[in-house]
Amino acid sequence: MAETESSEVMKKGRAKDTDESYDDDGVLPGEPLIELKDIYKIYVMGGEEVRANDGITLTINKGEFVAIVGKSGSGKSTLMNIIGALDVPTYGEYILAGEDTSEMTDDELSEIRNRRIGFIFQQYNLLMKLNLLENVELPLLYKGYGKREREEAAMEALRRVGLEEKWRNTPHQLSGGQQQRVSIARALCARPSIILADEPTGALDSRTSRDVLGLITELNKEGNTIVMITHDPSIAMYSRRVVEIMDGRIIFDGDVNAYADHRKLQNGN
Ligand SMILES: Nc1ncnc2c1ncn2[C@@H]1O[C@H](COP(=O)(O)OP(=O)(O)OP(=O)(O)O)[C@@H](O)[C@H]1O
Ligand SMILES: [Mg+2]
Repeated sequence: MAETESSEVMKKGRAKDTDESYDDDGVLPGEPLIELKDIYKIYVMGGEEVRANDGITLTINKGEFVAIVGKSGSGKSTLMNIIGALDVPTYGEYILAGEDTSEMTDDELSEIRNRRIGFIFQQYNLLMKLNLLENVELPLLYKGYGKREREEAAMEALRRVGLEEKWRNTPHQLSGGQQQRVSIARALCARPSIILADEPTGALDSRTSRDVLGLITELNKEGNTIVMITHDPSIAMYSRRVVEIMDGRIIFDGDVNAYADHRKLQNGN
């Protein structure tokens, strides 16, 4: 990138960022943060092609709360792995915060992933031998932060999800909802600009799910861009924009009210 261009990006970043500790991705609210162009992910199984993503073009702007919905096997997790830079497409272009990821090495991809993205998974993915503080500070360890900074940020994140008093506990001493809150704290700890959640309430009862979704909604109000994957249309109603995929292709993309109407039509009521 040319010198003038990069200093322009930095200026933009500074202009919008009041809180210096957030990932400074240089993207203004409402501008494209995630740009997927004609993404294909093709697996070959016993000579047969499986097109898990079959030509997906999608732009998500900074500050959006998007739900990606679709039936089992429709390609949601495949797409999330590409958005999260955990996997690369077979074909297509993925631009994340203005950076083309297509030509990146594995190291560059993991660097951009650690810097820009926080992950929340259905099964929490906490390390059972570590206490809550140690679990939550992990993303900062990968980013090379010192012990004190890590612990301060991790306690702050635990406080944010209401679990600071339990920091010494290990995950199996907690309920499912509490474990998911710890995983949200871990996602938040490095203050990424994007939070990717794959079925974040898939293992929770409905009341606990509402709490977790309430927390995710608050994060979005604070400026985090949220991409949430769910097979459950009622969970999608917490988002502001819904993208529905079927057989690896987008079949609906619109605001959440339009999605509710679209569902009523589909269900004939
Ligand atoms: N590593 C792989 N090798 C071969 N096929 C795969 C692989 N990963 C996914 N697939 C196939 O790609 C398709 C999409 O899978 P994906 O996991 O993205 O679906 P999903 O929408 O997340 O489903 P679910 O709601 O069940 O989690 C499926 O047909 C699946 O079998
Ligand atoms: Mg999945």
